[in-house]
Amino acid sequence: MARRTFIAGNWKMNTTLDEAVALAGGVVEAVKGVSDVEVAICVPYISLQAVSQVIKGTNVKLGAQDVHWEASGAYTGKISTSMLKSVGVTYVIIGHSEQRQYFGETDESVNKKTKATLATGLLPILCIGETLAEREGGKMDSVLETQLRGGYAGISKEDALKITIAYEPVWAIGTGKTATSQQANDAHVFIRKVLASIYDEQTAQAIVIQYGGSMKPDNAKELLAQPDVDGGLIGGAALKADSFKGIVIPN
Ligand code: PGA
Repeated sequence: MARRTFIAGNWKMNTTLDEAVALAGGVVEAVKGVSDVEVAICVPYISLQAVSQVIKGTNVKLGAQDVHWEASGAYTGKISTSMLKSVGVTYVIIGHSEQRQYFGETDESVNKKTKATLATGLLPILCIGETLAEREGGKMDSVLETQLRGGYAGISKEDALKITIAYEPVWAIGTGKTATSQQANDAHVFIRKVLASIYDEQTAQAIVIQYGGSMKPDNAKELLAQPDVDGGLIGGAALKADSFKGIVIPN
């Protein structure tokens, strides 16, 4: 089964409501007519509803940057999967390295969020990735395997196929240091090997794996040309419609 290219913008904690509406409008314009690439923008919670109106009827899908696993209740400050669904969200980023680094995200919470997201009919973008110290200490494979086994614990094969993986080496995020296309592809091949051992080879081959970490218009083409790199999760370069376009339609 051919995997579809999937490019998602992760706006992180950027854009006020007006800025988000304007940027979303720019993205819609920039990727108009693109049909061979799945395109999504993951915007701050407070702008989801407004951006959902801007992208209505277009080829741009809406994503959130996190979610809480409980359905409702006394969880001050949290947002549930059904709330996200009610404003038109399709994708939910889960386990981003910034969540893991600064906000106590664990493989267990990633797993709970992933299950809740799937149960509501939304599509997780599950982020994994090693730090520089882990890579240099030869622990990259075991870190990725632990994150994968933890994140996918108790998830059926059918549901696993609905999850996009974002491989984001922590040392490449927002640093301008991109993994080489070879490093990215090697990691993706390893990830597929782990997925094949959890599920089977066919499932592993069908799962879309994005690369994330300083992907820009000038390196996107080479990264995306790698056989196991199926797309990108884009931070900095997603904050301008032009540079985002340069990744969706690399020339
Ligand atoms: P970056 O962020 O493109 O700014 O490196 C990617 C991400 O964290 O998703």
